[in-house]
Amino acid sequence: MDLSSRTGLSQRDLYSHEIHDLKRSKPVIAVTMATSRQGYSVVKHLSKNDFFQIRAITRSPFTKRAELLAELPNVEIVKGDLLQRESLEKCFLGVYGVFGNTTPTKGWVLGRGSMVRDYELEQGRNLVDAVKKFANLGTLKHFVFSSVCKPKDPLNSQPAPGHFTSKWSIEEYILLNGLKELSTILRPVSYFENFDSDLPGVQISDSIFPGVVQEDKLWQTIAVDDVGLWTKAVFETPQKFLGEALNIAGEEMTGKDMAALWQEINGKKSPSVRYAMIPRQLMNFIEHDIALMASWIERAGYGADLKTLRALADELGITMTPLSCWLTQKISTRTTQKRLRGIDLKRRFIPAT
Ligand SMILES: NC(=O)c1ccc[n+]([C@@H]2O[C@H](COP(=O)([O-])OP(=O)(O)OC[C@H]3O[C@@H](n4cnc5c(N)ncnc54)[C@H](OP(=O)(O)O)[C@@H]3O)[C@@H](O)[C@H]2O)c1
Repeated sequence: MDLSSRTGLSQRDLYSHEIHDLKRSKPVIAVTMATSRQGYSVVKHLSKNDFFQIRAITRSPFTKRAELLAELPNVEIVKGDLLQRESLEKCFLGVYGVFGNTTPTKGWVLGRGSMVRDYELEQGRNLVDAVKKFANLGTLKHFVFSSVCKPKDPLNSQPAPGHFTSKWSIEEYILLNGLKELSTILRPVSYFENFDSDLPGVQISDSIFPGVVQEDKLWQTIAVDDVGLWTKAVFETPQKFLGEALNIAGEEMTGKDMAALWQEINGKKSPSVRYAMIPRQLMNFIEHDIALMASWIERAGYGADLKTLRALADELGITMTPLSCWLTQKISTRTTQKRLRGIDLKRRFIPAT
């Protein structure tokens, strides 16, 4: 049986990819949702060492975000949609590895919010089915799926938010399809970046440090850039990570402590910083699943083992980003933003550096 019948792809599709692949000898890694915050950090770090060729997947290759990715070395932009399995199959043709990420964010609707579990499950099914196809053909050797951190105490996990259980169900689907041995599951906790979103009242200011969790509850967080660092390490040391799952975090602090840290870092500009929790009822109205997530973090809590992670990071040469560094960097970004006042920055994608 020829490759066209085995893959179900046309001769034309195969031909264009084969010609492409002959020109390079580097292993190719396809990154789904490459324009997302997580995707950008993954593409950025993988592109650095000149070892891999990165196929950055987006639904819209001509956006500003895609342009920023295209400026990175060893990166090609390809069009693909997680909701269309055939488009993923074209993107995965000839790849050595896949970084897979899915999104629950379907778009905001009054009474429903924006996060839809089934929307993410559909993407997960397409992603895993496409991975399986190329794993069976023997071309795809390593699949990294980015899920979300599991709880400290698994018996205290329910009710969990739909955009968590969707990712854990996709993990199960990976196992069910016999893909464990060629997969690595990475499970990040909440991003630092959530503290500085575009939403009014959810931005760090000189007097406020915002959050969704009660001020005295421990909350594990991570710089989104560190997801890229861990992913690079996973692809570079497959023998250590194939068949494994790893909860990843950078910090574990209470909201109160994070506000105090910001006060210290911002110096005279912040003589007193208050941790401001977005009222749960308001959150429940705006995005029910985030309100549920906040209650889950307070009750069950993310279960990353920071001590073990720090030791592993040392072994692999990963410099994890402490919240203090991220906040310090925030100050310099703010100065730049002030200088650029008048330019519509909200519409620009400002990736983590
Ligand atoms: N926020 C957190 O604290 C946190 C923590 C852990 C895990 N996560 C999870 O990480 C994932 C990514 O979040 P993020 O904040 O990094 O994403 P993001 O910046 O909000 O980006 C969303 C991306 O999804 C892509 N996308 C949407 N629908 C798609 C589809 N049908 N096919 C392909 N791409 C599609 C879009 O790319 P194009 O428009 O270019 O195609 C866009 O780049 C989510 O599942 C989230 O739940 C988030």
